[in-house]
Amino acid sequence: MNMSVFNGKVAIVTGAGSGIGKGLAGELARRGANVVISDINAGRIEQVAQGIARDGGKVTSSVVDVSNYDAVKNMVNDAVDAHARIDYIFNNAGIAVAGPAKDFTIDDWRNVIDIDFYGVVHGVAVAYPIMVKQGFGHIINTASIAGLAPLPGIASYVAGKYGVVGLSNALRIEGAGHGVKVSVVCPGYIKTAIFTDSKIINIDVGKRAQMPDWGGLTPDECAKRILRGVERNKAFIILTGFAQYLSLLNRISPDLVIWIMRRGYGNALKKGMIQM
Ligand SMILES: NC(=O)c1ccc[n+]([C@@H]2O[C@H](COP(=O)([O-])OP(=O)(O)OC[C@H]3O[C@@H](n4cnc5c(N)ncnc54)[C@H](O)[C@@H]3O)[C@@H](O)[C@H]2O)c1
Repeated sequence: MNMSVFNGKVAIVTGAGSGIGKGLAGELARRGANVVISDINAGRIEQVAQGIARDGGKVTSSVVDVSNYDAVKNMVNDAVDAHARIDYIFNNAGIAVAGPAKDFTIDDWRNVIDIDFYGVVHGVAVAYPIMVKQGFGHIINTASIAGLAPLPGIASYVAGKYGVVGLSNALRIEGAGHGVKVSVVCPGYIKTAIFTDSKIINIDVGKRAQMPDWGGLTPDECAKRILRGVERNKAFIILTGFAQYLSLLNRISPDLVIWIMRRGYGNALKKGMIQM
């Protein structure tokens, strides 16, 4: 017998065509959930859906740009029409732009905030009132360690992710009175396509310090740990030991973390990894 809390539940996952979202979709389906998955990339989401269905999972998929409120609204309403409930929504889709903030165009700010912040807002704006009406549900928003500590070189991403953390914490307090749970996921380094797909501005990729292989998690391991946090209804699901350490340090001494980051960023400038 499948004793998973996700068995028979309805779980929406955005950005499920790759990486963490793909890992979550597969793991939820293996645990017996009806997964409703979407991504902006039609080819990727179709492949993920086919893989889940081939393995015997219950899945429906669609192409959704989370920065488009109407598209998110239609996706969530279609899920409610099909299943008469939603138990989980994983607002996971995200992008990054890396480079010195002085070289960002307005679109390098806007695109990241439209997807990473407003993508989450749209999922919340549609799903939360439905969950309040139901009297149950769990919203899981993906932020980042960059939503808990100020990482230089990805300023628009940091802005969007700090917003996701604040929104999630405030909503958790309000939702509790309605039976709605809210968690925020703050991963450190997860080995996904975001590092190769992201726009990079004035960073010498050849000189850039490589992410240490040992420091990161695979998307599948990350998905399992996220679901463990969801089962325990954690307010913060912070993944990788390094991310937990950095968030703790930033709570103890934000000034010390800014000093450490300034040194690291200064060294990167001196070595020519980042153009002055
Ligand atoms: N990989 C990491 O180290 C890491 C760390 C912290 C946080 N995160 C966050 O985890 C989430 C998932 O990222 P990932 O690492 O799996 O990246 P990924 O690139 O592997 O997957 C992201 C998916 O989101 C989709 N997407 C992009 N824009 C979209 C849009 N407008 N609408 C719908 N889908 C869209 C992409 O097509 C892709 O399939 C993101 O929010 C990211 O910021 C990742």
